[in-house]
Amino acid sequence: MSRVRVHNFSISLDGFGTGDGQSFEAPFGHAGQRLHAWMFATRFWDDAGTAGVDNAFAERHEPGIGAEIMGAGKFGPPGWQDDPEWRGWWGPNPPFHTPVYVLTHRPRPPLEMDGGTTFHFVDAEPVDALAVAREAADGQDIRIGGGATMLREFLAAGLVDHLHVVQVPIVLGRGVRLWDGLEALEEQYDVEAVSSPSGVTHLTFTR
Ligand SMILES: NC(=O)c1ccc[n+]([C@@H]2O[C@H](COP(=O)([O-])OP(=O)(O)OC[C@H]3O[C@@H](n4cnc5c(N)ncnc54)[C@H](OP(=O)(O)O)[C@@H]3O)[C@@H](O)[C@H]2O)c1
Repeated sequence: MSRVRVHNFSISLDGFGTGDGQSFEAPFGHAGQRLHAWMFATRFWDDAGTAGVDNAFAERHEPGIGAEIMGAGKFGPPGWQDDPEWRGWWGPNPPFHTPVYVLTHRPRPPLEMDGGTTFHFVDAEPVDALAVAREAADGQDIRIGGGATMLREFLAAGLVDHLHVVQVPIVLGRGVRLWDGLEALEEQYDVEAVSSPSGVTHLTFTR
Protein backbone atom coordinates (compact mmCIF):
# COMPACT_ATOMS: atom_id res chain seq x y z
CA MET A 1 0.00 0.00 0.00
CA SER A 2 1.31 3.45 -0.81
CA ARG A 3 2.31 5.60 2.15
CA VAL A 4 1.18 9.03 3.27
CA ARG A 5 4.17 11.30 3.87
CA VAL A 6 4.90 14.79 5.12
CA HIS A 7 8.25 16.44 4.40
CA ASN A 8 9.93 19.67 5.45
CA PHE A 9 7.01 20.90 7.54
CA SER A 10 8.62 23.67 9.56
CA ILE A 11 7.41 24.85 12.96
CA SER A 12 8.62 27.37 15.49
CA LEU A 13 9.74 26.31 18.98
CA ASP A 14 6.26 27.17 20.19
CA GLY A 15 4.67 24.97 17.52
CA PHE A 16 3.38 27.42 14.91
CA GLY A 17 3.39 26.29 11.26
CA THR A 18 2.72 29.79 9.97
CA GLY A 19 2.63 33.26 11.41
CA ASP A 20 -0.29 35.58 12.09
CA GLY A 21 -1.68 37.88 9.39
CA GLN A 22 -1.30 35.86 6.17
CA SER A 23 -1.74 37.96 3.04
CA PHE A 24 -0.66 38.17 -0.59
CA GLU A 25 2.35 40.26 0.50
CA ALA A 26 3.13 37.99 3.48
CA PRO A 27 2.26 34.34 2.67
CA PHE A 28 3.57 33.24 6.11
CA GLY A 29 2.25 36.27 7.97
CA HIS A 30 4.59 37.84 10.52
CA ALA A 31 6.86 34.75 10.33
CA GLY A 32 8.17 36.05 7.00
CA GLN A 33 10.70 33.57 5.58
CA ARG A 34 12.11 32.53 8.95
CA LEU A 35 10.43 29.10 9.07
CA HIS A 36 12.12 27.99 5.85
CA ALA A 37 15.46 29.82 5.94
CA TRP A 38 17.12 26.44 6.69
CA MET A 39 15.68 25.00 3.46
CA PHE A 40 16.48 27.98 1.23
CA ALA A 41 20.15 27.47 2.21
CA THR A 42 20.25 23.88 0.85
CA ARG A 43 21.20 22.49 -2.53
CA PHE A 44 17.67 21.08 -2.73
CA TRP A 45 16.46 24.68 -3.11
CA ASP A 46 19.42 26.38 -4.74
CA ASP A 47 22.24 24.80 -6.78
CA ALA A 48 24.76 26.86 -4.80
CA GLY A 49 23.34 25.67 -1.47
CA THR A 50 24.70 23.35 1.22
CA ALA A 51 24.92 19.57 0.93
CA GLY A 52 24.77 18.57 4.61
CA VAL A 53 22.15 17.25 7.00
CA ASP A 54 19.50 19.79 6.05
CA ASN A 55 19.86 19.01 2.36
CA ALA A 56 19.65 15.25 3.00
CA PHE A 57 16.30 15.73 4.71
CA ALA A 58 15.00 18.39 2.32
CA GLU A 59 15.50 16.35 -0.83
CA ARG A 60 13.39 13.47 0.48
CA HIS A 61 10.40 15.68 -0.40
CA GLU A 62 10.32 14.51 -4.03
CA PRO A 63 11.07 10.81 -4.70
CA GLY A 64 8.20 8.36 -4.91
CA ILE A 65 5.38 10.92 -4.66
CA GLY A 66 2.41 10.44 -6.99
CA ALA A 67 0.03 13.11 -5.65
CA GLU A 68 -0.15 15.91 -3.08
CA ILE A 69 -3.02 17.08 -0.89
CA MET A 70 -2.82 20.66 0.40
CA GLY A 71 -5.08 23.09 2.25
CA ALA A 72 -6.72 26.18 0.82
CA GLY A 73 -4.38 28.25 3.00
CA LYS A 74 -1.31 26.91 1.18
CA PHE A 75 -2.82 27.34 -2.29
CA GLY A 76 -3.33 31.07 -1.91
CA PRO A 77 -3.72 34.05 0.41
CA PRO A 78 -6.95 34.58 2.36
CA GLY A 79 -9.74 35.39 -0.11
CA TRP A 80 -8.26 33.67 -3.19
CA GLN A 81 -11.56 31.79 -3.44
CA ASP A 82 -13.15 35.09 -4.57
CA ASP A 83 -10.63 35.55 -7.41
CA PRO A 84 -11.48 33.40 -10.47
CA GLU A 85 -8.03 34.19 -11.95
CA TRP A 86 -5.99 32.85 -8.99
CA ARG A 87 -3.85 29.88 -10.13
CA GLY A 88 -1.63 29.36 -7.06
CA TRP A 89 1.65 30.97 -5.98
CA TRP A 90 3.91 28.99 -8.25
CA GLY A 91 3.52 30.40 -11.80
CA PRO A 92 2.67 28.45 -14.96
CA ASN A 93 4.89 25.43 -14.12
CA PRO A 94 4.39 24.60 -10.43
CA PRO A 95 7.01 22.40 -8.74
CA PHE A 96 4.65 19.48 -8.01
CA HIS A 97 4.49 17.68 -11.40
CA THR A 98 1.66 15.44 -10.12
CA PRO A 99 -2.04 15.83 -9.43
CA VAL A 100 -2.55 18.16 -6.44
CA TYR A 101 -5.78 18.08 -4.41
CA VAL A 102 -6.63 21.41 -2.79
CA LEU A 103 -9.05 21.07 0.12
CA THR A 104 -11.61 23.87 0.12
CA HIS A 105 -15.25 24.30 1.01
CA ARG A 106 -15.56 26.33 -2.21
CA PRO A 107 -14.39 23.99 -4.98
CA ARG A 108 -13.96 25.08 -8.61
CA PRO A 109 -13.09 23.24 -11.85
CA PRO A 110 -9.61 21.69 -12.13
CA LEU A 111 -6.64 23.77 -13.34
CA GLU A 112 -4.24 22.02 -15.66
CA MET A 113 -0.80 23.63 -15.42
CA ASP A 114 2.46 23.05 -17.33
CA GLY A 115 4.83 20.29 -16.25
CA GLY A 116 2.29 17.69 -15.17
CA THR A 117 0.64 19.54 -12.26
CA THR A 118 -3.16 19.62 -12.19
CA PHE A 119 -4.90 21.31 -9.27
CA HIS A 120 -8.16 19.62 -8.28
CA PHE A 121 -10.38 21.37 -5.74
CA VAL A 122 -12.17 19.10 -3.31
CA ASP A 123 -14.60 19.55 -0.46
CA ALA A 124 -14.20 16.26 1.38
CA GLU A 125 -13.21 14.66 4.65
CA PRO A 126 -9.50 13.82 4.86
CA VAL A 127 -10.12 10.08 4.47
CA ASP A 128 -12.16 10.61 1.31
CA ALA A 129 -9.71 13.11 -0.20
CA LEU A 130 -6.94 10.61 0.48
CA ALA A 131 -8.81 7.84 -1.32
CA VAL A 132 -9.09 10.02 -4.43
CA ALA A 133 -5.43 11.08 -4.27
CA ARG A 134 -4.30 7.50 -3.72
CA GLU A 135 -6.13 6.37 -6.84
CA ALA A 136 -4.44 9.16 -8.83
CA ALA A 137 -1.01 8.38 -7.35
CA ASP A 138 -1.14 4.98 -9.02
CA GLY A 139 0.85 3.06 -6.42
CA GLN A 140 3.16 5.89 -5.45
CA ASP A 141 3.06 7.75 -2.12
CA ILE A 142 0.86 10.72 -1.26
CA ARG A 143 2.39 13.86 0.22
CA ILE A 144 0.40 15.96 2.68
CA GLY A 145 1.58 19.47 1.90
CA GLY A 146 0.09 21.49 4.78
CA GLY A 147 -0.57 24.09 6.10
CA ALA A 148 -0.97 23.39 9.75
CA THR A 149 -4.78 23.27 9.82
CA MET A 150 -5.20 20.53 7.25
CA LEU A 151 -2.11 18.60 8.44
CA ARG A 152 -3.57 18.58 11.97
CA GLU A 153 -6.79 17.09 10.51
CA PHE A 154 -4.87 14.31 8.74
CA LEU A 155 -2.85 13.53 11.88
CA ALA A 156 -5.97 13.50 14.05
CA ALA A 157 -7.59 11.04 11.63
CA GLY A 158 -4.57 8.74 11.90
CA LEU A 159 -3.83 8.96 8.17
CA VAL A 160 -0.13 9.93 8.18
CA ASP A 161 2.54 7.22 7.95
CA HIS A 162 5.66 9.39 7.93
CA LEU A 163 5.91 12.91 9.35
CA HIS A 164 9.05 15.02 8.98
CA VAL A 165 8.80 18.15 11.11
CA VAL A 166 11.59 20.70 11.26
CA GLN A 167 11.78 22.56 14.54
CA VAL A 168 13.23 26.00 13.88
CA PRO A 169 14.75 27.89 16.84
CA ILE A 170 12.45 30.89 16.69
CA VAL A 171 9.53 31.82 18.94
CA LEU A 172 6.62 33.16 16.89
CA GLY A 173 4.13 33.72 19.68
CA ARG A 174 1.12 33.71 17.33
CA GLY A 175 -0.06 32.07 14.14
CA VAL A 176 -1.55 28.64 13.35
CA ARG A 177 -0.47 25.81 15.65
CA LEU A 178 0.24 22.29 14.49
CA TRP A 179 -0.03 20.20 17.65
CA ASP A 180 -3.31 21.37 19.23
CA GLY A 181 -5.64 18.44 19.95
CA LEU A 182 -3.02 15.82 19.08
CA GLU A 183 -2.19 14.73 22.64
CA ALA A 184 0.02 11.60 22.81
CA LEU A 185 0.42 11.51 19.02
CA GLU A 186 3.99 10.27 19.51
CA GLU A 187 2.73 6.96 20.95
CA GLN A 188 1.66 5.90 17.46
CA TYR A 189 5.13 6.36 15.95
CA ASP A 190 8.84 5.66 16.19
CA VAL A 191 10.32 9.09 16.77
CA GLU A 192 13.85 10.14 15.82
CA ALA A 193 15.59 13.51 16.10
CA VAL A 194 18.63 14.80 14.25
CA SER A 195 20.05 18.19 15.09
CA SER A 196 21.73 20.16 12.37
CA PRO A 197 24.58 22.68 12.63
CA SER A 198 22.15 25.20 11.10
CA GLY A 199 20.26 25.21 14.41
CA VAL A 200 17.15 23.30 13.31
CA THR A 201 16.12 19.87 14.59
CA HIS A 202 14.70 17.31 12.18
CA LEU A 203 12.05 15.17 13.87
CA THR A 204 10.66 12.13 12.12
CA PHE A 205 7.57 10.24 13.20
CA THR A 206 7.37 6.91 11.36
CA ARG A 207 4.79 4.17 11.75
N1 LIG B 1 5.39 25.41 7.95
C1 LIG B 1 5.39 24.83 6.77
O1 LIG B 1 6.30 24.05 6.44
C2 LIG B 1 4.26 25.12 5.82
C3 LIG B 1 3.93 24.23 4.80
C4 LIG B 1 2.87 24.55 3.96
C5 LIG B 1 2.17 25.75 4.12
N2 LIG B 1 2.53 26.59 5.12
C6 LIG B 1 1.83 27.86 5.37
O2 LIG B 1 0.69 27.56 6.15
C7 LIG B 1 -0.30 28.55 5.90
C8 LIG B 1 -1.59 27.84 5.57
O3 LIG B 1 -1.95 27.04 6.68
P1 LIG B 1 -3.36 27.19 7.36
O4 LIG B 1 -3.33 26.32 8.55
O5 LIG B 1 -3.68 28.62 7.51
O6 LIG B 1 -4.36 26.63 6.23
P2 LIG B 1 -4.37 25.24 5.41
O7 LIG B 1 -4.19 24.10 6.33
O8 LIG B 1 -3.48 25.34 4.22
O9 LIG B 1 -5.85 25.29 4.85
C9 LIG B 1 -6.97 25.32 5.71
C10 LIG B 1 -8.18 25.54 4.82
O10 LIG B 1 -8.34 24.43 3.93
C11 LIG B 1 -9.72 24.16 3.74
N3 LIG B 1 -9.98 22.84 4.32
C12 LIG B 1 -9.27 22.20 5.27
N4 LIG B 1 -9.81 20.99 5.52
C13 LIG B 1 -10.86 20.87 4.68
C14 LIG B 1 -11.80 19.84 4.43
N5 LIG B 1 -11.76 18.68 5.10
N6 LIG B 1 -12.76 20.05 3.50
C15 LIG B 1 -12.82 21.22 2.80
N7 LIG B 1 -11.93 22.22 2.99
C16 LIG B 1 -10.98 22.05 3.92
C17 LIG B 1 -10.47 25.28 4.44
O11 LIG B 1 -10.51 26.34 3.49
P3 LIG B 1 -11.83 27.01 2.84
O12 LIG B 1 -11.98 28.28 3.59
O13 LIG B 1 -11.51 27.25 1.39
O14 LIG B 1 -12.96 26.08 3.01
C18 LIG B 1 -9.51 25.65 5.55
O15 LIG B 1 -9.72 26.94 6.04
C19 LIG B 1 0.22 29.42 4.80
O16 LIG B 1 0.82 30.56 5.42
C20 LIG B 1 1.28 28.58 4.16
O17 LIG B 1 2.24 29.37 3.54
C21 LIG B 1 3.54 26.29 6.00
